[in-house]
Amino acid sequence: MSIWVMARIISVTNHKGGVGKTTIVANLGFALARQFKVLLIDFDPQANLSSGLGFKDADNTIGRYLQEVIHVRYPTVVPHEINQYVHIIPCKVDLLDIENRLRNTISGDLMLKRIIVTIQKDYDLILIDCPPAFNYLTINALSSSNLVLVPAKPELFSIQGIELIKDYAERKQIPYKIIFNQVDMRSNYHRQVINTAQENYQSNLVANYIRTSISLAEAFEQAIDIFKFNESGNGSKDFIKLADELIPFV
Ligand SMILES: Nc1ncnc2c1ncn2[C@@H]1O[C@H](COP(=O)(O)OP(=O)(O)O)[C@@H](O)[C@H]1O
Ligand SMILES: [Mg+2]
Repeated sequence: MSIWVMARIISVTNHKGGVGKTTIVANLGFALARQFKVLLIDFDPQANLSSGLGFKDADNTIGRYLQEVIHVRYPTVVPHEINQYVHIIPCKVDLLDIENRLRNTISGDLMLKRIIVTIQKDYDLILIDCPPAFNYLTINALSSSNLVLVPAKPELFSIQGIELIKDYAERKQIPYKIIFNQVDMRSNYHRQVINTAQENYQSNLVANYIRTSISLAEAFEQAIDIFKFNESGNGSKDFIKLADELIPFV
């Protein structure tokens, strides 16, 4: 049962790779699942979320469903259960070919949305892990979303990656929030970049950032959720705080 009639949809995107999109989808998903029923969608053909959570080569992929809607068939969507409160629709590398097909399909930007509406009442929140490119998959994710989360490392080049998404989100009137990841507040450089970002983005920058924490990477490699892996560690603490800060906006 869902507390809202329809799930709220959140894309996690930044066309830069390695900024923490997949890490945030997985761990924020588990943190939010303390209160909500959550669906994760792996929308990056590299399929890191799928393999990290133990769904490498699983069937019922988002690519298969997209192929069906492109052919104007309405699929019966059956997500996989990670546990009672967190489900996943995985993907495989073939999602890359489907990106091309979407580009050449009428209303190709709305195909993901057509899949999501069939299961939207079964969840409270749907988190979408986007590819590291501002391509048609990303456009599909953004067109479906009520909120966009933009992870960034506290480095100048990573911040520059935010501008494109910010412009798009503002144009489409989708609220967006920037999240700093892999932060070390002992570093002058990190503090400096974060201060500048606070001035530029103000309330669009979340107050809670994610520190560098090796258990986040370790837990993910072993397909264990961070709260089971190391409940009292920095990784768990940071994601609980982040989830609590974001709940009013989801
Ligand atoms: N806060 C963090 N602390 C330590 N390692 C992290 C953290 N966030 C991400 N990583 C690691 O950095 C790499 C890139 O993160 P990932 O979430 O895959 O980025 P993206 O999905 O944006 O490409 C992964 O190996 C991941 O385990
Ligand atoms: Mg990723």
